[in-house]
Amino acid sequence: MTAMTDNPIFAVAAKAEALRARGVDVITLAAGEPQAASSAVVVEAAVAAVRDPATHHYGTAQGDPALRALVADVVSGDTQLPWSAGDVQIALGAKHALFLAVQALIEAGDEVLVAAPGWPGHAEVVTAAGGIAVPVATDEEFRVSAEALDRCRTPRTRAVMLSSPGNPTGAVYPECRLRQIADWAERYGVWVISDDIYRAFDYTGTYRSVLQVAPQLFGRTVVVGGVSKEHAMTGWRVGWLAAPPEIIVSARLHVARTITHVPTVNQRAALAALGDTSTPVEAARDYRRRRALLVEALNGIDGIECPLPDGGMFAFPDVSELLRDCGWSSSADLATWLLDTAHLAVVPGEAFNAPGHIRVCFAVDDDTLITAVERLLTALRSAEHKSAVRQIEEAR
Ligand SMILES: Cc1ncc(COP(=O)(O)O)c(C=O)c1O
Repeated sequence: MTAMTDNPIFAVAAKAEALRARGVDVITLAAGEPQAASSAVVVEAAVAAVRDPATHHYGTAQGDPALRALVADVVSGDTQLPWSAGDVQIALGAKHALFLAVQALIEAGDEVLVAAPGWPGHAEVVTAAGGIAVPVATDEEFRVSAEALDRCRTPRTRAVMLSSPGNPTGAVYPECRLRQIADWAERYGVWVISDDIYRAFDYTGTYRSVLQVAPQLFGRTVVVGGVSKEHAMTGWRVGWLAAPPEIIVSARLHVARTITHVPTVNQRAALAALGDTSTPVEAARDYRRRRALLVEALNGIDGIECPLPDGGMFAFPDVSELLRDCGWSSSADLATWLLDTAHLAVVPGEAFNAPGHIRVCFAVDDDTLITAVERLLTALRSAEHKSAVRQIEEAR
């Protein structure tokens, strides 16, 4: 049996939920999801779908052809390459799509390169598929380079996971870096799994699909996406992969033999979401404003250094100086203290292979974010005050 451990992000969310169940007013900036409800368009489409007897029976394993056609349009737009409904497999969220891609690509013991810091789900799906996730250290802007990938390459390297904008770092890969990575992948016959789940949240205007920049990788690249983040639909569990035929066949068979297909009602909801182009644009506009508010507040705290993320929905400050100054032994210690003292949930950097950092989500409404920032400032100022008093006493 493959040994698996709990995702640390879920552990924080579970602790916050337990406090909430005891009546504590917890604010969580820990979850990697929009706080907003799914749009009325999505909800109405789902209600209509529930009323349609056609959704009450089995559908096809590959997914609703109408949804696959719309996904193909989205991926064709991003990559500037011709994808059709037949090139798409509908999955139970982007994470399931990543799993399906990896299981199609690897044999047991094959290696897949993942960014460190990076989202733990990338390594988890590799392990779940029987592979070995090899962490690749990112540069100071949280991007992997062709050189770093090459240092981690072995004869068993089968694929690299690329995620732009990234989680937790928000890093967006510029064209030149994508081109270098694509050249490296082509040279060594490595597949690229492009996780584009945050594609709508690019605040720099520089986001490009790796396939747009390096179309020669068509045939060696899997594009993964979904409605979870762009359309505030994490609970609906609809994602997809667009890939060459051999990957799609494998993914379809895996789906057919395990879950049969993604629930039809949920696919209808996703279909409606893809017809609604305004929700992601509005969300991105709101997140851009909240990103500025949060990053400015974090940088106002002694011992915290927070770069402005280029994309995504998280601030990822370096808190190592704060830990040292206030006597916390790790980011996990700080996160526990914040939850217990300020009733504020954030994710410690250890969850992303990045001790000395915390991840703070800004995809919450303005009031929640402002209250959270006030709690954070109040709690940390009291901690700094206590630590200053302690240092004075020790010096006496
Ligand atoms: C980089 C990245 N990819 C994929 C996912 C999973 O998305 P979904 O909820 O559609 O499975 C997440 C969720 O946090 C993520 O951060």
